[in-house]
Amino acid sequence: MSDMQGRAVVVTGAGGGIGRATVEHLLARGADVLATDLPSAGLSAVQDELEAAVVLEADVTSLDDWGRVARAAEAAFGRVDGLVNNAGIEGAITPLVEYPTEMIDRVLDINVKGVAYGMQTLHPMLIADGGGAVVNISSVAGLGGARNLSIYSASKHAVIGLTKSAALELAEHGVRVNAVCPSPIQTRMMRALEDGIKIDGLDRDAVEAMVSQNIPIGRYGEPSEVADLIGFLLSDASVFLSGAAIPIDGAMTAR
Ligand SMILES: NC(=O)c1ccc[n+]([C@@H]2O[C@H](COP(=O)([O-])OP(=O)(O)OC[C@H]3O[C@@H](n4cnc5c(N)ncnc54)[C@H](O)[C@@H]3O)[C@@H](O)[C@H]2O)c1
Repeated sequence: MSDMQGRAVVVTGAGGGIGRATVEHLLARGADVLATDLPSAGLSAVQDELEAAVVLEADVTSLDDWGRVARAAEAAFGRVDGLVNNAGIEGAITPLVEYPTEMIDRVLDINVKGVAYGMQTLHPMLIADGGGAVVNISSVAGLGGARNLSIYSASKHAVIGLTKSAALELAEHGVRVNAVCPSPIQTRMMRALEDGIKIDGLDRDAVEAMVSQNIPIGRYGEPSEVADLIGFLLSDASVFLSGAAIPIDGAMTAR
C-alpha cells in the first residue's frame, strides 16, 4: 500500500510503544516520516530497524527543539503534511492530595505544552502544503476521571481542548485536527502503571487481568491498532473528520 506516498509526517515520542508503531504504519503506506524522541528513548533502534525513517532527538517541551524539528523536516522532505503529537508521560501514580508539586509541572509541560508547541511551530508548514492533518494522543483518562492519575487525566482532558480549539481555528486553512483516546495499550507506560497500582501485592499479570475486566473486548489494545486509527485520521479517508476525540478502547467508555 503506498497511498501516503509524497506525504511527510512528524511523529513525537517515536522511540517505542504507540509512536514507533505509528512510524512503522506510515512507512508501510509510503509516507516520509521524521521520528523524534528524547536522546534516551531508543531512536537508534528505530533508525536501524526502520531504515526509511529520518530520526531526530528532540524534547517536546523545548521551543528550540521544535525549531530544529521544523528545519529537519524542511531539509529532508521540503514539507510537512502530518503531525502526530504522541509524546507523553504518566507522571506520579498517587492520590491528588499527595501528588508531588514538581511532577505536576513536568506532566503538564510534556503532555499539554508539548502538544501546543508542536501545533504552533508546524502549522505554517501544514497550511503551506494545502491541507495537513494533526493527530493528538489523548486517552480514556481524557474523557473521564482516573483514580491516582489526576494530573495525567487533567493533561489528557487539556489535549482534547487544544484539539477542538485548533480544529476550529485551522479549518479555514484546510488543516484537520483530531484526538485519539486509547484505553490501556500494551506499552512501557502500561507496565509502569501496573507497577504503580500495586494492589494487595498483585503482580503485573494479575493487574492486567483485573484492568482487562473493565474492557468489554477483554484485553489491552495493541500499539499497531492505535496506529491504524492514527493513519486513517492522517489520510484522505477522513477528509470531513475534524475536531473529534475518538475512543479506541474495546468499548471501555461505551457504558
Ligand atoms: N499505553 C497506554 O495504555 C496509553 C493509553 C492512552 C494513551 N496513551 C498515550 O499514548 C502516548 C504514547 O505512549 P505509549 O503508551 O506508547 O508509552 P511510551 O512510554 O512507550 O511512549 C511515550 C514516548 O514519549 C517520549 N517522551 C516522553 N517525554 C518526552 C519529551 N519531553 N520529549 C519528547 N518525547 C518524550 C518517551 O521517550 C516515549 O518514547 C502517550 O501520550 C500516552 O499518554 C497511552
